[in-house]
Amino acid sequence: PSAVPFHGPHQAGIATPVQDRLHFAAFDLLEPSLPKAVALLKAWTEAAVRMTAGQEVGGGALGSPLAPPDDTGEALGLPASRLTLTVGFGPSFFDRLKLGDRRPGALRRLPHFPADKLDPARSDGDLCVQACADDPQVAVHAVRNLARLAFGTASVRWSQLGFGKTSSTTPEAQTPRNLMGFKDGTNNIAFNDTATLDKHVWVGDEGPQWLRGGSYLVARRIRMHVETWDRTSLKEQEDIFGRTKGEGAPYGGRREHDEVDLARQPADSHVRLSNPGSLGGVRILRRGYSFTDGTDGLGRLDAGLFFIAYQRNPQSGFIPIQRALARQDPLNEYIQHIGSGIWACPPGVAPGQFWGQALL
Ligand code: HEM
Repeated sequence: PSAVPFHGPHQAGIATPVQDRLHFAAFDLLEPSLPKAVALLKAWTEAAVRMTAGQEVGGGALGSPLAPPDDTGEALGLPASRLTLTVGFGPSFFDRLKLGDRRPGALRRLPHFPADKLDPARSDGDLCVQACADDPQVAVHAVRNLARLAFGTASVRWSQLGFGKTSSTTPEAQTPRNLMGFKDGTNNIAFNDTATLDKHVWVGDEGPQWLRGGSYLVARRIRMHVETWDRTSLKEQEDIFGRTKGEGAPYGGRREHDEVDLARQPADSHVRLSNPGSLGGVRILRRGYSFTDGTDGLGRLDAGLFFIAYQRNPQSGFIPIQRALARQDPLNEYIQHIGSGIWACPPGVAPGQFWGQALL
């Protein structure tokens, strides 16, 4: 089926089997006005209901000849392409709208990690929208039309296109490869593993009422120094991850999905450091995409991984994993974290309601 249901207990785009393409956008409110924020989220929800069903926004792309069309038109004739739109609220959303009493304790800007080189112009944002679809034009159309509806209320702070998924939530399908050439997403949370999703991804009773059934989104723009990586021997590449490049098998195993045996991992492989067995059981749902944004002016590709992770609580998800990785990961010689953001994604929307209604 080409359309993913928009309504449900959880927002689509989190546990949903990962689509091929991403357009991610962070927005800032132009002025801190609660009524305007409510109007924006209502308008966004209405448009999202239509676009995720493969329909045009509002009165469509071909309305009155005398007015600018409600829909920008570039998705005319394209199917829904499994479009999902997922919205989150950043820490600054609560600060600026003086909603401090409703801000969850866990929603704080991420701490500084060693070797972070974060660009403010690629970080943070009052709101975020993750658009995923199997067709890039559908994802771009969706973000563009939401940005258009936000005119006068919020503007795009930064955005990111992703062209290839680097994580899968469908273990039976072929695992995609990242730009280092390795299968990525082998040990991820599956879309239908409801027990693990409940335990590690969806916010439960510990969170504020408005966030129950929602999740925390952490995004990191991670540049890869692919030229350096490409001069590294195959053996060293495999040692860095603790998995073979061809099959994706963990060291000590033969097949990709063989269990990771920590005793057989190199002392500081990426897999050993990030495996739940090394970190007291912490788990995240990874949903990242590869990007290439041209070159950096020095003859190198500006390429990497736009890392996205969902978790029940960043304190027992991304933060401890990244603390371990930032300190010891041998991958650090080949990567650099350039952008960062955290948002609380409200639960799913019931028909007739709007995104974040219980918060606002
Ligand atoms: C596993 C690549 C950054 C968390 C893996 C695997 C690869 C990989 C190839 C093994 C296959 C798999 O199980 O998915 C990368 C690359 C990164 C990166 C290229 C940066 C450019 C991160 C970051 C985090 C992270 C920033 C979280 C802070 C994990 C986790 C696993 C994993 C939790 C699964 C470990 C296990 O349970 O065995 N990564 N990763 N990775 N990575 Fe990363």
